Formats: sequence, C-alpha cells, structure tokens
Amino acid sequence: MKFHKKKSLVFKTLNVLPSSLGYYLYHIIQKRSFKNISKNIIANKNSRSVIKHILNSVNFNLTNKSIIEIGSGWLPLMPYLLKAEELCKTIYTYDLNSHYNLENITRLNHYFKTEENISFKKRQSDKYNLPEFIEYYPNTNIIDTDLPKDISLVYSRFVLEHVKPSDILKMHQKFYSEISNDTYVLHLISPSDHRAYSDSSLSYYDFLKYSKKEWNSIQTKFDYHNRLRLPQYLSVFENAGFDVVYLNYDKTDASSDKYKKFKAIDLHEDYTGFSEEEILAGSINILLKKKKNN
Ligand SMILES: C[S@@+](CC[C@H](N)C(=O)[O-])C[C@H]1O[C@@H](n2cnc3c(N)ncnc32)[C@H](O)[C@@H]1O
Repeated sequence: MKFHKKKSLVFKTLNVLPSSLGYYLYHIIQKRSFKNISKNIIANKNSRSVIKHILNSVNFNLTNKSIIEIGSGWLPLMPYLLKAEELCKTIYTYDLNSHYNLENITRLNHYFKTEENISFKKRQSDKYNLPEFIEYYPNTNIIDTDLPKDISLVYSRFVLEHVKPSDILKMHQKFYSEISNDTYVLHLISPSDHRAYSDSSLSYYDFLKYSKKEWNSIQTKFDYHNRLRLPQYLSVFENAGFDVVYLNYDKTDASSDKYKKFKAIDLHEDYTGFSEEEILAGSINILLKKKKNN
C-alpha cells in the first residue's frame, strides 16, 4: 500500500473513534514529529526570512510591536524567532486545538539556550513553561474571540489552507472591523496536496482530480485541506475589504517533473476554469492591508 494511503487509513481510523480518544492518539503520533527541533527550526527560519523580506518591502519593522498569530500549531518556533530577531513586544497566539505541551516547550527552551544562546523571561507558574511575551489561547477559534488592541501585525504560517473558505471570509471580516488601518495581515499559504510531501509518487496537485464529495470522503478533520486556488483566496480577501500590498508565489517550470506529474492528472471540472498559472501557484505569500476608501 502506498504511503499516503496508509496515512489516510490512520486518519480515517482515528476519525471514527470518539473525538477525545481520536485526538489523544493523534497527539501521540504528531508529538513525535516535533522531537527533532533543529529540523523544524530550519524550516521556520526559512519562513522567517520570507516574512522579513516581505515586511522590509513595505519598510515595516516589528520592534516593540504586538502581533497576533493564527494557528499556534505544536511549538512556538516562529514567535521565538520573531522575539529573538525583531524584539517584538507581545505575541498573542490562537489555535482551534490545544497542541502545545510542557515537554516539547521545555525542550525548545533548552534548545534556544544551548544552541541560540537565548533565554526568554519565563511566565510565572505557566503550565506550558512559556516565556512571558507569549499569550497562548488554545481551543480558541480566532473568529469567536475578542482581539487584543494595539496589534501591528496579524500573521499565519501554513494555516489558511486548513481553514474552511467561509471561515477565512469571516476571519478577515473580523480583522477588517477590529484592526487599525495601519495593521498588516500576512499569510504564508501552502496550497499543494500535502500528501505529496511524504509520498513522491503523488503530484502536488493530485487532489484537484476529485469532486468535492470525493475529496471529503478521503480527508478527515485531522488532515483537512480546502484546495482553494490563488484567485479564490484573492477574491475572499477582496470581499472582506483588503488590498493586496505584496504577493509572491511559486511558478512551475514546464520542463520539471512536477509539471509532468501535474499534466498527467485529469483535473475535476471545478478546476478547469482556472489558468495553469492560477492552478499551479504554490507557496503563496501575501501581505494585506485594509482598503483605504471602504
Ligand atoms: C498546519 S498547522 C500550522 C501551525 C504553525 N503555524 C506552523 O507553522 O507550524 C495549522 C494550525 O492552525 C490551527 N487552526 C486552523 N484553523 C484555525 C482557526 N480558525 N483559529 C485558530 N487556529 C486555527 C490548527 O488547529 C493547527 O494547529
């Protein structure tokens, strides 16, 4: 059985268990992927460079500014990097789930102390051992919570592709009404079929051959992907009242193996109305600001 099928089978099995047991087992499996901090830190440092490049392009720096992170994930790697390198003030981080745990964060603190020579001031008797500059809100959908005031940047890394399109719209409508005109919203989006990351037999666009119904019978709440293409994201941001200040995405060389695998796919009719560039747009990095005359 191919690796992505085995993985899907594991998620499907967890999905039919009572939710608390399913999540408990899912956590045990996922926790292992975050044992290798140095591997995860390399990937986050790459994203950090992308964020820095984008913010530099609009002459914006984060020193002493407060930030919202959508989708905390398993480890506060990006918040640690932003604090260490940009000296930002507070980072408020929200997650639908509760993935942080004491063991991994204690290991992360040790890693920063020994490998990066950085010790952050600790929060008093915090159950996760988090530093003072991080305010963690687990089990919180950012759509349903009051946002803190005085926020200069809202960002997400590899989150939006896992959010229902209707929630992406609600989220940005909320940002539109609650953040200041000067606040930037930055997203790093990975619109590819994530199963291809661990199974090279699959195209990064494989999931575009399925109808909505077929795809919903393959994915579960543990590996949900909305499959939105670039113009669909742009239209949601526009509808919520945002201008695109910066946009960059990967293009695919027609001589590459990636392109050949894409061409071998029989796209579902839901995707045939897009141009090839719109379909193939990968690693979408986008900076938004509220429209001036709205
Ligand atoms: C793939 S993880 C990425 C985590 C982290 N940003 C990173 O770069 O490793 C996506 C995370 O977003 C969270 N998430 C999805 N929708 C959300 C929402 N509406 N509000 C807050 N968190 C959300 C998920 O629970 C998950 O932990």
